[in-house]
Amino acid sequence: MSEGHPLLVVDAVSRFYENGSVRALDQVSLRANAGETIALTGASGCGKSTLLSLIGLLDQPTAGCLRIGGQDLAAVARPSAFRARTLGFVFQFHHMVPTMTLLENVAAPMIALSVARAERLDRARAMLAAMDLGHRAGFLPSRVSGGERQRAAVARALINRPAVLLADEPTGNLDSRNGERVIDLLLAHARSQGALVLVATHNPDIAGACDRRIELRDGRLVAARPARTTPALLCANLDAS
Ligand SMILES: Nc1ncnc2c1ncn2[C@@H]1O[C@H](COP(=O)(O)OP(=O)(O)OP(=O)(O)O)[C@@H](O)[C@H]1O
Ligand SMILES: [Mg+2]
Repeated sequence: MSEGHPLLVVDAVSRFYENGSVRALDQVSLRANAGETIALTGASGCGKSTLLSLIGLLDQPTAGCLRIGGQDLAAVARPSAFRARTLGFVFQFHHMVPTMTLLENVAAPMIALSVARAERLDRARAMLAAMDLGHRAGFLPSRVSGGERQRAAVARALINRPAVLLADEPTGNLDSRNGERVIDLLLAHARSQGALVLVATHNPDIAGACDRRIELRDGRLVAARPARTTPALLCANLDAS
């Protein structure tokens, strides 16, 4: 993406429920570039998951516009194909297919891109090895630990080299040691692929590991700050470009 053309543009986006009485998101605008890692923080119910769902084409805004790579998300003709090509998801719970091995789970997203079976398995094996899971490739999700399952979920989310990786409390179900391992691998591999990462989190360590932090309160963006600078440097300018 050239300067002045952010990969992600969220422009005055609102999402209301219950005839407007619940304002899950209210006029949120932000821009983000390829390769950035961004923590999305704020109290429970502030709108983090709602925003990720809109960016991930799992939901549609009540008002406003979202673009990825210049594409207006409201005008995407085949959302499932767009998701497979452009987006990766990691959720709090792994959502692995229970009857498929980790290898088959990680290889599955490549079917939508028409990658040949042998190549799918080769690439999935390499990605599992990169997540320190080579020795678990043939196991069913129920036969590995929670941390291993979540690392496999990260492998699956990154396997198609998505431009945008969306992670919703990806370590919320893990102890701190395993959570740290998952997030370290997620950020390292996403950065090496040049992906934009948005991670919703309550964990200050995860927020601190990201390039910048965006905070929501009651559906509104209240502040954004580079995570690695002092808290005194609160910055209201949300434009990354
Ligand atoms: N389908 C729905 N119908 C009505 N209200 C909803 C719906 N989905 C979410 N909300 C409301 O929208 C607001 C934002 O919810 P959201 O799930 O985005 O919060 P969150 O920041 O992800 O919270 P948490 O940290 O607990 O995951 C909340 O008040 C929630 O109750
Ligand atoms: Mg949430």
